[in-house]
Amino acid sequence: MHYDATRNDHGLAIDPFKALVVPRPIGWISSLAGDGSVNLAPYSFFNAMAERPAYVVFGSAGRKDSIANIEETGEFVCNLATWALREAVNATSATVARGVDEFELAGLARAASRFVKPPRVAASPVAFECIYEQTVKLAGHDHAAGGSAVVVGRVVGVYIDDRFIHEGRVDTAAMKPIARLGYSEYAVVDEVFRMRRPD
Ligand SMILES: Cc1cc2nc3c(=O)[nH]c(=O)nc-3n(C[C@H](O)[C@H](O)[C@H](O)COP(=O)(O)O)c2cc1C
Repeated sequence: MHYDATRNDHGLAIDPFKALVVPRPIGWISSLAGDGSVNLAPYSFFNAMAERPAYVVFGSAGRKDSIANIEETGEFVCNLATWALREAVNATSATVARGVDEFELAGLARAASRFVKPPRVAASPVAFECIYEQTVKLAGHDHAAGGSAVVVGRVVGVYIDDRFIHEGRVDTAAMKPIARLGYSEYAVVDEVFRMRRPD
């Protein structure tokens, strides 16, 4: 099949787009509002876009608490979503009022970040401490609820749980990161393969 993405006339019961860009890493984003209230939410329109300096981006469908907080206070943390934390990741995606602390909602302990004010998820094996760089507004076709936007952050601090560093390398499969597919589907990385680039 082929369909017109502007008209979105795929004829399927559910829009297939997100099932086609897979697997998407999940940025589990902690941030602070100007009044100091804490926020945590998963974003799977998320990725790293550059290294040295490292940049990450996430996409917000409409103006949600994370983007509002980050634009207000200028910092955020991207925690790694893992198999062990999958239920908590999901719980923090609940639509709740801006002041509600999703760490508490999901029974998660916080740990202090080093270079930014928002806390990290203590049980997550990786956290990127980020400085807000800019918001890129995306012209939408049918985003009646405020349009989509991409938040760009520069990574200034990286936390890695030492238990996942073996012989100078991060053991990705041992961390069991989860990733988003389409619908309500997820993938888990618990196996890797290696392939060297040609000379
Ligand atoms: C695994 C997962 C990934 C998600 N990815 C996104 C995303 O990329 N963009 C988005 O706008 N919402 C996404 N959501 C929904 C948000 O997490 C949800 O709207 C949440 O309430 C936003 O929280 P906030 O208002 O505290 O920022 C995702 C939900 C889940 C469970």
